[in-house]
This record gives sequence, structure tokens and C-alpha cells, in this order.
Amino acid sequence: MKLLAVVLVAAAWAGFGSALDNGLALTPPMGWLAWERFRCNTDCVNDSYNCISQNLFMQMAELMADEGYLNAGYDMISLDDCWLAHERDQQGRLQPDPNRFPSGIPALANFVHSKGLKFGIYEDLGTKTCAGYPGVLNHLETDANTFAEWGVDYIKLDGCYSSHEQMDEGYPEFGMHLNNTKRPIVYSCSWPAYQNDPNYTAIIKTCNLWRNFNDIADSWTSVTTIIDHYGDNQDALAPLAGPGHWNDPDMLIIGNFGLSYDQAKTQMAIWSILAAPLIMSVDLRDIRPEFKFILQNHRVIAIDQDPLGIQGRRLKKSGSIEFWLRPVTPVDNDNHSYAVAILNRGDSTPTRVSFTLKELGMTSAKGYWVEDLFEEVVGISLMPSDPLTVSVNPSGVVMLKCSLLK
Ligand SMILES: *[C@@H]1O[C@H](CO)[C@@H](O)[C@H](O)[C@H]1NC(C)=O
Ligand SMILES: *[C@@H]1O[C@H](CO)[C@@H](O)[C@H](O)[C@H]1NC(C)=O
Ligand SMILES: *[C@@H]1O[C@H](CO)[C@@H](O)[C@H](O)[C@H]1NC(C)=O
Ligand SMILES: *[C@@H]1O[C@H](CO)[C@@H](O)[C@H](O)[C@H]1NC(C)=O
Repeated sequence: MKLLAVVLVAAAWAGFGSALDNGLALTPPMGWLAWERFRCNTDCVNDSYNCISQNLFMQMAELMADEGYLNAGYDMISLDDCWLAHERDQQGRLQPDPNRFPSGIPALANFVHSKGLKFGIYEDLGTKTCAGYPGVLNHLETDANTFAEWGVDYIKLDGCYSSHEQMDEGYPEFGMHLNNTKRPIVYSCSWPAYQNDPNYTAIIKTCNLWRNFNDIADSWTSVTTIIDHYGDNQDALAPLAGPGHWNDPDMLIIGNFGLSYDQAKTQMAIWSILAAPLIMSVDLRDIRPEFKFILQNHRVIAIDQDPLGIQGRRLKKSGSIEFWLRPVTPVDNDNHSYAVAILNRGDSTPTRVSFTLKELGMTSAKGYWVEDLFEEVVGISLMPSDPLTVSVNPSGVVMLKCSLLK
């Protein structure tokens, strides 16, 4: 068998100069964001249960704390678009829609903090948010100060209604104002998602995470389009990621309507290989237990949150099978342990896949302890040349951790 050259070197950070150093997001952020599941439903008259309102966020925050999500690492809940009133107040400050957020944002932030969670907010660098509410352009300092005073811990700053030049100036300027507030605030940018040739040197200096690509939708097609984008562009994208600065392939849609059980595992696995932020967007009030179990899989989460912060890559495709690998701890001198996701892009039957660890670039003479991260089965000890066979369901994944033996 052909021994594949392995390109999984620890991403050398040197080429990109300095990264944002606010001490935050040293592992990919984890939390809950309203957008993909609840969108811009502002109809609290006819649909009060699902509309964007303080009640929705309070319910989700309680469930995150009570149902194990916070313990699993999902420690942030964030507003997305459509929380704002259409006008600023008399002092020119942003204000929430008074009917849907009658207690105001500081009260909501306090409630979220009382549950042990961090509080996130959404705005847009342009004249308007994507849904047409007031944007921050021409109010950057005022709005950064307002968010800090309100107790915001995380901001997603979108890029609708702003030019490329306004983004190139505005994202760093807003970041400077955030820094000047002295409040630690994770800065999530949408800057590169709106540009063909983004200046990642500037983006890494400015943002803790950034959306590179299309918004996710509630479908397997959307998930695979995103997976392909990160695989096809991995030489450009993977080296950008590291502690404090992450590529963001967008929210987890696990538990909604568009993914099967196997497809949900695939999203969780590939997002973790990619060192992606794990931001759920699902109704935690009625999520089915098997999806909750996937979202709270502590062994997969540990891969996502691996302290080395190296973004993994698609190593090879053969037929309908893709191998995705990520170097993780424990490390022994020059040798890494690896997370491996074997993905079946086919649509017929479960497929048997045979390989050796050596073919994937794992050559340590001391061997590896190999565990299946989705199945509760005992691990096995394997030498690099030992054969291994797994069965991968259509649109499903087998995820392994191969830990160096000492
Ligand atoms: C509630 O539904 C009615 C009938 O569809 C509609 O006319 C009205 O605009 C809705 N209310 C709000 C606040 O959207
Ligand atoms: C502000 O920037 C400095 C210099 O990078 C950094 O040390 C500090 O942690 C930042 N403070 C906040 C609150 O972001
Ligand atoms: C990209 O950003 C860096 C850092 O802000 C800057 O020095 C450089 O001139 C920018 N490159 C381009 C092509 O604009
Ligand atoms: C790392 O792997 C190489 C084989 O590629 C082996 O020669 C070397 O001894 C290993 N180092 C350690 C510390 O295990």
C-alpha cells in the first residue's frame, strides 16, 4: 500500500504576524445562538412561544444550565438579528424592541449571568443589520461602550450594508473601541464572509473568530457544502486557526429538522476536526434525546477543545470515503495523537473501510490507543501497521481518537 505523505504539521503561526491578544477564546467558543433556528420571528402576538423575545432567551439559558449543556462546555448564549428597536434612543444609543424585551438588555444579561453563562449580542458594521435594524456605522464608540455597560461578553458583528472599505476600517476600529472599554468581550466577525480576497493578516489581528463562508441552513446539502469549502480551501484556511483566533463554519444545526441521526454526528465530528466554534442553534425545549446526546458527547467536544488548537484537514478522498485528521494532545516530542473522522459521502449502504494508522501518517513505534468516540466500546491498542476495519453509514461518520502510547 502506498504510504501517504502527511501534511499535518502543526500550523506554524509565524507567517501571519500577530494575532488578537485579548486573552479570550483560547479554545473555540461554545454556546447557543438564535439565528438558524428562530431567524427573525418578531411576531409575539401570534407566535409568542417562538418569537425573538427576552422570554425565549431566558428559557434557553435555563435549559442550558439545567440540562447539562453548560457542564458540557456550552457557556454562552447570544442574541442574533431582530432584537433591536427600529430607532436609537434620544441619546443616540441602541435600544431593544420595547415590546419583546420589556425588561431591557442589562436585565437579560444579569439573568444569563445568574445561570453561570456568558451573554452575547448581535450587531452589524453597516448602516443597517441584515434584517434592517440600526447598524453600528458612525456609532462605533457609543455602541461598544453601550455593550460593555450592559454586561455583554461576546459580540457577533455582521457585515450587511457596509462596503469592503468600510469593513477593512470598521472592524479594527470597533475592536479598538471594545478594547478601550476594558471589558473582556469575545469578538466574532463576519468580515471575510463578505469579501473575495479577505486580508487575513488584518482579520487575525482584530477578531477572535470569523465567518468565512455562507450562512448555514437546516439541510444536509448546506452542511456538505460547508464541509467541502473547508476541505477544498484548507491550505489557505487551516493555518489561520489557533488559540484566540478561529475560522467559523457557522452554527450546529443538530437537533433541528434537516439532519438525520448519522448526519448530525457527521456535523459534530467534522466541526470538531476543524477546531470550529460549537454554537448550537436548536430549540432546547423539545430537542430529541439522541441529538442532545450528540451535542453533549464529551469525548468529541474534547477534540474540538484540544488545547493545541490545530485545525484539522481532509487527508484524502477515496471513492465515497473521506479521511479527516486533526493533530491533538497528548504529544510526545515530535509525534502527535490524532482525531480521525472517516466520512461516508455515499448514499447506498454502510461501507466497510480498511486501513492502517501508518497510511494516515501515524508512525510512532510505541503504537496508539484507539477509541471510537461515538460508540461506548472499549478501545484497542494498535501498532502503525496493524489493519483496522470500520463500517461507516451513508452520510455518517466513524470518529476515532488515536492516542500515542508511551
Ligand atoms: C398576527 O396574525 C395576523 C393574521 O395573520 C396578522 O395580520 C398580524 O399582523 C399578526 N401579528 C403580528 C404582530 O405580526
Ligand atoms: C486590549 O489590548 C491589549 C493589547 O493587545 C491586551 O493586552 C488587553 O488584554 C486588551 N484588553 C481587552 C479588555 O480586550
Ligand atoms: C492587510 O492588513 C495588514 C495589517 O493590517 C496591512 O499591513 C496590509 O497592508 C494589508 N494588506 C492589504 C493588501 O491591504
Ligand atoms: C516519533 O515517530 C518516529 C517515527 O516517525 C519515531 O522514529 C520516533 O521515535 C517517535 N518519537 C517518539 C518520541 O516517540
